Amino acid sequence: MTWFEGFRDKVVVVTGASSGIGRETALAFAGAGARVALIARRRDLLEDVAQEIRRGPGEAMVAPADVTERAAVHDAMQAARRRLGRLDVVVNNAGVLIPSTVVDLQRADLDRMLEVNLVGALFVMQEAVRIMRQQDDGGTIVNVASLAGRRGISPLGGYCASKFALVGLTEALRMELHGTPLHVALVLPGVIETPMAHGREHELENLWPSSLNMPPAWVVWAVFAAARFRLVEIAVPPGAATLEKLAALAPGVADSAVYWGTQASRWLAQLLRRG
Ligand SMILES: NC(=O)c1ccc[n+]([C@@H]2O[C@H](COP(=O)([O-])OP(=O)(O)OC[C@H]3O[C@@H](n4cnc5c(N)ncnc54)[C@H](OP(=O)(O)O)[C@@H]3O)[C@@H](O)[C@H]2O)c1
Repeated sequence: MTWFEGFRDKVVVVTGASSGIGRETALAFAGAGARVALIARRRDLLEDVAQEIRRGPGEAMVAPADVTERAAVHDAMQAARRRLGRLDVVVNNAGVLIPSTVVDLQRADLDRMLEVNLVGALFVMQEAVRIMRQQDDGGTIVNVASLAGRRGISPLGGYCASKFALVGLTEALRMELHGTPLHVALVLPGVIETPMAHGREHELENLWPSSLNMPPAWVVWAVFAAARFRLVEIAVPPGAATLEKLAALAPGVADSAVYWGTQASRWLAQLLRRG
């Protein structure tokens, strides 16, 4: 038996399952034999993912919800628990990115990112904990934050703020649940090839060479490892967050290193775009 076969018949909820990382994560869990509940706003896309799952060994249900609405999160997760019997893993992944320099950051854009990336994630965590506390063997919540939740970079200041906040919330919840059968993990991806990275390509195209984007499968493996081995934190690529933590020991030096690193990546992006 391979290690990921441990997910057979487990019940997994994935938010943001209509696209990108969430979609790939849902398909991968289902491929490993899990029963999956799919949450996001776009029902038609969730139905497509569910159809794809039903062609394989997994089972899927669609539970459309806007994660920023507490009642909708409650209804969707309770529906998953009723229909699938319990919740073993909740992948808290729904998120939005609106790039802007800090100087030009609009209040509405910051509010939107905080609303989805922080408040939405909080509602999902709270509902997951309520349900998992009723299970003798608990369960695992995997919060998908970002490497931008450990180091501020431009033009992602508002997004970084929302992900830093999610990291703080996650660490605090870990303390609250210490010694219980409930586990909370953080997955911190770098730049991943999804509609989130592509949809912003016109704004980010000169910042980062898209040919260096990592495939969503790398995040899926991080989520699998976090859930299977109860890891506390895993970066994609592995080790990247350790560099950010070391950088925090010398913030002034880190600023210069990140500044020159960013200049180099801009130069490479422009060079590659010119062909
Ligand atoms: N791509 C990257 O480079 C990268 C890097 C680090 C971290 N991340 C994080 O990874 C997660 C997934 O991102 P992705 O790259 O897969 O982006 P994506 O392809 O744009 O997918 C985002 C998902 O979030 C859902 N979502 C957004 N707002 C929602 C809301 N209010 N309620 C419910 N669902 C909502 C979307 O579904 P609906 O629109 O159907 O609601 C969609 O399924 C995000 O948290 C993101 O911040 C991404």
